[in-house]
Parts: sequence; C-alpha cells; structure tokens
Amino acid sequence: MSEDARLRYLTGFGNHFATEAVEGALPVGKNSPQRTPFGLYAEQLSGTAFTAPRVENRRSWLYRLRPAANHAAFRPWAGASLLKSAPFDRPADPNRLRWDPLPMPEASQDFVEGLVTYGGNGDVATGAGIGIHLYACDRSMQDRAFFNADGEMLIVPQEGRLTITTEFGVMAVEPQEMALIPRGVRFRVAVEGPSRGYVCENYGGLFRLPDLGPIGSNGLANPRDFETPVAAYEDIDEPCELIQKFQGGLWATILDHSPFDVVAWHGNLAPCRYDLRRFNTINTVSYDHPDPSIFTVLTSPSEVPGTANCDFVIFPPRWMVAEHTFRPPWFHRNVMSEFMGLVTGVYDAKAGGFAPGGASLHNQMSGHGPDQASYGGAIQADLKPHKIADTLAFMFESRWVIRPTDFAMEAPTMQLDYDDVWAGFDKGRVPPNA
Ligand SMILES: [Fe+2]
Repeated sequence: MSEDARLRYLTGFGNHFATEAVEGALPVGKNSPQRTPFGLYAEQLSGTAFTAPRVENRRSWLYRLRPAANHAAFRPWAGASLLKSAPFDRPADPNRLRWDPLPMPEASQDFVEGLVTYGGNGDVATGAGIGIHLYACDRSMQDRAFFNADGEMLIVPQEGRLTITTEFGVMAVEPQEMALIPRGVRFRVAVEGPSRGYVCENYGGLFRLPDLGPIGSNGLANPRDFETPVAAYEDIDEPCELIQKFQGGLWATILDHSPFDVVAWHGNLAPCRYDLRRFNTINTVSYDHPDPSIFTVLTSPSEVPGTANCDFVIFPPRWMVAEHTFRPPWFHRNVMSEFMGLVTGVYDAKAGGFAPGGASLHNQMSGHGPDQASYGGAIQADLKPHKIADTLAFMFESRWVIRPTDFAMEAPTMQLDYDDVWAGFDKGRVPPNA
C-alpha cells in the first residue's frame, strides 16, 4: 500500500484509540492473551510511570510481527554531531540573540543528520527541561529509523512537507502544522525536497492541552483537531538501521526487518499531528494586549503549578480591534525564557530581521519588545479593526533559562547587531519642573 493511501487519522488528543490494519488483529478483552491473533507479539509502550494518576497515565499496547526487543546491541553512532542534549555546559548568555534562517544543507542529508541544537535547559537524566533543535534536510531517511529515549519530539515544519512513518501509522505534516512523537516511538521521515523546521525535544512532563479556566469548555486548540494515524505496517525483511538518542548519546543497530511492523494497537499514547490553522484564537475585544499565554497550544508542566517546563505558543493570524491600545507586543522582561521561530509571514513586533526559518532567544529578564519601526508605526496607527494575516510565529517558552550551544553562538547566521533594534528610541518628554 502506498504511504498516501495509508494516511488516515483518528481524532482527539490523548484519547483511548483502538485501530487495526488487518481485521481481527486486535485482541478483544485482554491486552496480552495467551495466544494473540495471527501470532502477533503483544507489547506495552508506556509514556508515564505505571502508577501515574489515571488522568495523566499514558500507555499503548502494540501487536506486531516481531517484538521490539528483537535487535542486536546498539553501538555509538557518529552522525548528527550537532545534535546536543542537556545539561548544556556553555555558560548562559544574558544577551538577546537572533539568527538568520538556517541554510539548506550543502551536502545531501536526511532528517536525523540535519538536526542541529540551538540550546536548551534542564537535564535529560532528571527528566526536566527541553532541547531546542532546527533541522534542514533534502533527503528521505532510507533504510533508517530513529527513536528518542530522552523525550517526546514536537516538530514544527517551516518548509517542506514531511511524511512521518511511525510504529503507530503514517502521518503527513506540512508547514503550519505540527507533529508530536512520543518518547521511544520509532519513526522515519520522508521529504519531497529541501525541508526545514523546528523541534522541541521535551524531557519533562508530557505535552498536554492547557486548562481553559474561565474561557470555558471550548477554545484554543480543540481536542478533536488532533489527528493520530490509523494502524499501518510494513512486512519487510530487509536491513534497517535503527538509531536512538539515549541520555544525549546517539546509538545505532541494524535490524533485519522493518521496525514499522505494528499491525494493530490500542491505547492513549500515540503520535499525532495538529493543523495550527485550526487554532481558535482568543484575543481582547476591548483594550490592551493580553499575555501571550492566551495563545498556548500545548503545555508541558513543571512540578510548580502554572510554571511550564515548556509552553508551545503560536502567534496566528488574528483580528486586532483593541481601542486606545498599543497593539503589538509591549516592552517586557519576563521570568520565563523565550525561544521564537517564524514559520511564515511577518511577526507584528518586528519590522525586519526576523525571517521565516530564523530564530530568536530572549532569556529570563532580558528587556525586549517591539523594534523602533514597529513602535513608531503602532503609536501612530489609526486603530481601525485590522487583521494580521498570512503569518505564523511560535514560541517555546520555559521556566528555565535556555543555554545556547556552541553552534548557535558561533553560527554565521547570528545577527551581531541585534541589540541595535532597540537603540535610538526618543526619550520620553516630561515637562520641566515648574
Ligand atoms: Fe517576549
């Protein structure tokens, strides 16, 4: 069956799904009966500790041609040398940082080879923090699969459609969509040409939908818009290199079969995709610019309620109607640290320099906000209802300072003059004392 023909989805976020590629493959009533249909191997994949509270407990049962345990020893793998993990030992940098777009690769490379780490925080060993990566690739993964034992991966394509084959099924993800791949799930990325995007590797609590509080029972990212692939499998007895990221190291082994041999599965731990254009954007209809938490798509909580290990926040197209208000993001200094990317269009606080495929990092307590041109335009603007259209920026925001990597700090794409966007503002004019 072609990959496109397998692109069918189940809807909901964290639902208990049940799906089989072959009728009768899914056991009824028992997770691990003495004899499974078709002699498949029953295998549980857990995403939370067995005893996690039911509301947070995530696990799935997979029914496959061979157990995932059927592999030889992993050996260190020397590829993707720019893919790094926390703890990041380079001293944190208090400066505001911004980068031009990550160039497309000069030599052909696939998704895994094309991962480069810009920064992160926490520690993979203690299960806290995030790694922030970009990818640039032009080649599909051939006879190769990858899984991340260190965390789940939130993928935000910026250029190029990805077809992601996973143990759970196949999903297509294009710019203005996102994909979320649970820790440990084996996957393979096919591309259709030069492709680029962003990845948040989450070592901490699983991404979930934020509570809505007084917003009520609807709004922001609606659960039914998350799509999980139906079961699809490969019955291929050919070598496949399986690479894993484990405690920051990369390891590989060669399987003698496709790892995508799950014929049926059920459970509430599975990859999903979400079309960010379906986000139900909520904003002020009176005055002021709400805190950007109003645009949270998914949140990974830390142990302190309300202070995220990571929030995934988007800045989607929206109507701006606030009266008597400076409408762009205000000047601010935050306790949380902000890594931003731009999928398409123009971000409303920056008149230039923040290009699709680029990135910026504003760490804890660094002063930032609109650049001079955006500020000047906003204080002069005629405040008619105005639509910010054709744009999608996003932020990975974390309670912990994001430490940049050597790659990020030494990249030729770093804008050495970024501070200048906040230079030269006219001084406020207070009347002289009478
Ligand atoms: Fe900010």
